[in-house]
Amino acid sequence: MADKITLTITRRRLTEILIGLVSLFLTAGVAAAILKYLWPQTESAGTTSEVKIASVDEVPAGSAKNFVFNGKAAVLLHMPAGFRAFGRVCTHLGCISYWKSDESVIYCPCHIGKYDPNTGAVLSGPPPSPLPAIDIAVREGVVYALKWKDPDYVRSISFYAGAA
Ligand code: FES
Repeated sequence: MADKITLTITRRRLTEILIGLVSLFLTAGVAAAILKYLWPQTESAGTTSEVKIASVDEVPAGSAKNFVFNGKAAVLLHMPAGFRAFGRVCTHLGCISYWKSDESVIYCPCHIGKYDPNTGAVLSGPPPSPLPAIDIAVREGVVYALKWKDPDYVRSISFYAGAA
């Protein structure tokens, strides 16, 4: 014959258990956020996150096409030496730069920063460092963005947080 088991729990004890469970879940969530911050995902760093930018015909010599790469504004340039691609987020204060064909520079309008369209190097103005370059490939008449040329450099630029 089965004995009847009676479980008595006070309201105070039930409240303590519920508060304990809520605290446990909150603590686990905070711990997960801290761990994610300390060990960020690096799946795009140095790996291929290929993006189709344009067909070769869309970007004749001397012109450019804007696109988005890893969530950041970027530009494909067709220079005399070939195609080049860079992030467009200015390394000074994060404004969006653009191709300025009349001066043949990548131009940031916020503080008149100018970048070399062949290398991304700073030509003039306050930007402290070059625009990050993007490796590209041309296959069957289509230009693809492959990956940041230097993911460590991209990670070092605060305005590119999460892009590499
Ligand atoms: S934000 Fe580009 S030059 Fe200042």
